[in-house]
Amino acid sequence: MDSLQELLNKKKEGNALRRLKTVEGLIDFCSNDYLGLANSKELFEIIHLRVTKITPPYNGATGSRLLSGNRTLAETLELKLATIFNSAKTLLFNSGYTANLAVLSSLPQRGDTLLYDELVHACIKDGARLSLASRFSFKHNDLNDLEDKIKRAKGNVFIAVESIYSMDGNACPLKELTFLASKYGAAIILDEAHSTGSYGPNGSGMAVEQKLENKIAVRVYTFGKAMGVHGACVAGDETLINYLINFARPFIYTTAMPPHSLISIQSAFDFLQQNMDRQKTLQSKIQLFLSRTEKLPLQRIKSKSAIQNVIVPGNTDVKKLGSYLEENKFDCRPILSPTIKEGTERIRICLHAFNSDEEIKGLTSALQNFVQ
Ligand SMILES: Cc1ncc(COP(=O)(O)O)c(C=O)c1O
Repeated sequence: MDSLQELLNKKKEGNALRRLKTVEGLIDFCSNDYLGLANSKELFEIIHLRVTKITPPYNGATGSRLLSGNRTLAETLELKLATIFNSAKTLLFNSGYTANLAVLSSLPQRGDTLLYDELVHACIKDGARLSLASRFSFKHNDLNDLEDKIKRAKGNVFIAVESIYSMDGNACPLKELTFLASKYGAAIILDEAHSTGSYGPNGSGMAVEQKLENKIAVRVYTFGKAMGVHGACVAGDETLINYLINFARPFIYTTAMPPHSLISIQSAFDFLQQNMDRQKTLQSKIQLFLSRTEKLPLQRIKSKSAIQNVIVPGNTDVKKLGSYLEENKFDCRPILSPTIKEGTERIRICLHAFNSDEEIKGLTSALQNFVQ
């Protein structure tokens, strides 16, 4: 165990030691609860009421979906999600992490090529490492670099991207990407983690909003961010879903979701359908933040989404800004290297429909005070 302690010591020396902490009494500019569903008392009560009405009552799925764990509740929810995401089928997963692990580890086969944007989430990279296909990253949102790599690719080609990038907050040029993919017969795997709920009719995400869903072979939606609950699903055609049921180990070898989770997901989409104005409110909060920061001497990554950044190179310096903001009651966390590339350390700011204009103005004033 000495070697483990040594590695921890190294992290500490690099000012990059991770610690769990709870935060209370600060203004939330950190969570993925973009639409305020995670903390909605109304939604809480709807879920609670529906859970008490499960007949016959049960607490856990008791096994994998392929053994004792398949329930009508899960199948009904998958049908509902297929309607929302306008796909032939959907398949539930316990989290976005396992959904991506399942897709990336099982779809690209030996002899195939997987090309992924360099900024995709860790779970896409982890899934890719489990695949037997050749894998290469391409420069962030750079379709020329991607095309060069497609030309050199062997076997079936898969392209993995995110609709909204989790760290930079910028969007994938989806339309152009679908043109490129169809030119070379490549299959797109789209992670909609940060657009599920916040974009599209009934929270259906960006591909549906842009009417591109039929051009994207695999779509991954997660429910732990704007939907305020937990879990994920993959949307696609019947062959894709049957394939995952048969070959995706993170689907096959795990206990299925409990009824509380299934009810929560169902209720969150029902609730959002009745509260679609939250999407518009979120957009107005983003506009306010952008208008208040455009003239500030801050190093920023261009983003029109709820995820905004202030770059402060170096773990030590970015932590200083983090502490300053915390002293001023703003909860926005420093993101350190090696989670992100050295030199791009940043304060990641998540905006929410529930942040008041005063809170956003207060945050931008604090940023201004710090840099001046
Ligand atoms: C882009 C992206 N994909 C997938 C995930 C994982 O989703 P989950 O939290 O549901 O496991 C995250 C989580 O941060 C993410 O940002």
